[in-house]
Parts: sequence; C-alpha cells; structure tokens
Amino acid sequence: MALQINATNPEHPALLLELPWHLPLEDWPQEYLVPLPRGISRHVVRYARAGDEVIAVKELAQRPALREYELLRDLDRLGIPAVDPLAVVTGRTEPGGEPLESVLVTRHLGGSMPYRSMFETTLRPATMHRLMDALAVLLVRLHLAGFAWGDCSLSNTLFRRDAGAYAAYLVDAETGDLHPELSPGQREYDLDLARVNISGELLDLEASGALHPSVDPIEFGTEICARYQSLWQELTRTSVYPAGKYHYIERRIRRLNDLGFDVAEMQIEHASNGDTVTFVPKVVDAGHHQRQLLRLTGLDAEENQARRLLNDLESWMATQDDYAPGDPLGARPEVLAHRWVREVFRPTVRSVPPDLRGPMDAAEIYHELLEHRWYMSERAQHDIGLDTAVEDYVRTILPRARTTLQPTED
Ligand SMILES: Nc1ncnc2c1ncn2[C@@H]1O[C@H](COP(=O)(O)OP(=O)(O)OP(=O)(O)O)[C@@H](O)[C@H]1O
Ligand SMILES: [Mg+2]
Repeated sequence: MALQINATNPEHPALLLELPWHLPLEDWPQEYLVPLPRGISRHVVRYARAGDEVIAVKELAQRPALREYELLRDLDRLGIPAVDPLAVVTGRTEPGGEPLESVLVTRHLGGSMPYRSMFETTLRPATMHRLMDALAVLLVRLHLAGFAWGDCSLSNTLFRRDAGAYAAYLVDAETGDLHPELSPGQREYDLDLARVNISGELLDLEASGALHPSVDPIEFGTEICARYQSLWQELTRTSVYPAGKYHYIERRIRRLNDLGFDVAEMQIEHASNGDTVTFVPKVVDAGHHQRQLLRLTGLDAEENQARRLLNDLESWMATQDDYAPGDPLGARPEVLAHRWVREVFRPTVRSVPPDLRGPMDAAEIYHELLEHRWYMSERAQHDIGLDTAVEDYVRTILPRARTTLQPTED
C-alpha cells in the first residue's frame, strides 16, 4: 500500500513528506524532533518540525486515527478549544515492506503544558482550583455542542495561560462522540468519568509526592463536578421574571458574559404571572461582537461596548411581535436591528444635548447610558427604564464629567 497523506491544508503534505515515515515513531532520529514536555499516553507521541511549525505526531491504528482526525475537525468547526488536526498518514511501511501503524498529526499547541509538568513544582491549591475551573468550562462547552468526551482527564487536557487565568484545550478526542444534543444521562456519565479519572490522576501525584499536602484528591474530583453543575445550571436554566422586568434579564446576561459566554438566542414567553425566559448560550471569539454589531446595524464600536449594545438589541428584539428566530416567516434580524436603530438607538442618543457630548461618538454615548441605567437599576433593585437613566445622566453625570475634563483656570 502506498504512503498516503490526508491533510486539511494543501501546503502541509509537501512539508510532511520530508519526515521519515518509513521508521517507527520511536526510532525517529533526533534531528527531526523537538524536545518539549509530553503527557502520559498509551500511544507513542513525538513532536517534530514541519517547516515553521511544530507538530505532534501520534502513532495509532488507521481507523481510530481517521476517526479522531474527523472528530477534531468537527470540534474545530464548532469553535471548541482543542488541538488542530493537520493530517492523517496511512500506508506506512518499513524499507523491508513491514507495515507500520498510521499516524495522526496535530499542530503543537503553543504555550501549553501537560498537567504533569505543571505539577513538577508543587502547585498551590489556588492554582489547582483555577485549573479545575478551566476544565469545567471546557467540559460544559463540549456538552453544549453535543460532544460526549468519553475520557475526560487531566492527561487528555492541555492548559494554557489566559490573561491571569487558565484555558483548557482538549487533546485526545479518540473516545469522543458527537450528537445533535446530549441527554442528562449522557452528560452525567461523562462527568462521572471525569471525576474518577481526575481523582485517580491526583492520587498518583500524591503517591509520587507532587501534590500539595492540603489537597485531597477525592475532594478535587467532586469539586470539578460541582463547578460543572453550577456552570451548566447558570447557562441553561429557564428563568421566570416578573412581567416586563428587563433588569432581571440583563443581570442574567451579564453573569453569562462574565463567565465567558454569550447569548446566541433568547426566547421570551409572556404569561400573566411573569415572563419565562430561555437562553441559548454560546461561546464567542474575540472581536465577535464588534463584527456582528457592524453587520447588523452599521455601528462601529469597541468590543465591550458592542457586546452591551447587542445585548440591548437582543432583549429589545425579543419583545417585538414579528421576532421569530429560525422561522422563515419572522422578521430578519437585520430588519429588526434597523428598526431598533431608528426607534430606540437614535432617539436615545439625540436626547443627550450635542454640546454636552464632548468627544463621545453615538455608540459610546449609548453604551454609557446603558451602563448608567444598569447602575441605577442595581441601586433601586428594579429596572428604572432608559428614559429615567437618560434624564439622570444628562442632569447629574455629564456636567460633572465636563468640569473634570476642562483645564483648571489657575
Ligand atoms: N497537538 C498537541 N500539542 C501539544 N501536546 C500534545 C499534542 N498532541 C499530543 N500532545 C501530548 O501528547 C500526550 C498524549 O496524547 P494523547 O492523549 O492524544 O495520546 P493517547 O495515547 O491517545 O492517550 P491515552 O493514553 O489517553 O489514550 C498529551 O497528553 C499531550 O501532552
Ligand atoms: Mg490521552
């Protein structure tokens, strides 16, 4: 059988052809390899150089190699943090004709560390809690996307520093399964595997003296489950709010944003005793809100401003009679967005006198007004409404902002 390289990018096969595929991975000469820390694994894994890239090469049978490659591509499509699949190499033979196992090639995840290397210097419990948080977020993201991991563990995860916190990436998808949606039983089962695996891995570390004495391996396993459950609950629960209490909805959206999630869709059902609100949470990449706001409304804003404006737009859209996401008969989001610009955004900004606006542009003013409404509503414990917020902002905040911005006269 001839050597065959299936790759995602047409440039990769040429670079990959330079590697010694006719040798078992264990026998690859040093000149091809990159000495970086690796986690424990059943299969042989090596890091090698391919052009400017460092790649991870894992030797395994053809079927699981192809399957894992496809699953990693699915995860990539779904925007899940996982290693990038680059290629599968099959039909390898030794010079004497002996067949060799296939390999899966992924891009080495730069700046990442296998957990064992992190534990080489005993980790403080606070750092360990942050790692568990990151892993819980990853598992929730996977489950929201319908992916049952089947083998969630510390050694199948890579951790990367992320602005003071950690981000967790999936590295081993071999046992995973993608479904349209996971049942509570499937999620429970996956979570239970995670608990058992993680406690086991921490017990191993404890036995080798690499665990902080105050850390209880069993408790940590339970903790990851608790973190997962509270995150899942926060993201997916249906809430009932007193009718018209926009403020409660905003509070919940802000909490989701703080957890690194966004609202993809919101359904509000009106009932006489209150509104039932269901959110469809979604994870988003940097700059996402800016691009979306620009596309929908033509407004150009900073990322955080754009996020707040979009939240406001989303909540407003959900109150419109012709809002029906996914229904071809409902109004298109662009149409609703323009109505919002015309009927809400512009009149609100216009109610701030131009001579008090200073250098702020329209999106910034609107964002400021939303923030002011939020703080006033928090203080009052109920939504004070946009009109009251605008009136108070113009009367109390803007004049003060102008005095502090003006040069002093002495
Ligand atoms: N793309 C990558 N970037 C960085 N490290 C990687 C990458 N791919 C694999 N590794 C390292 O190699 C280790 C083993 O990989 P992997 O878990 O896929 O192997 P495995 O043999 O399938 O594991 P298991 O024993 O769980 O079946 C990982 O823990 C990780 O440290
Ligand atoms: Mg593994």
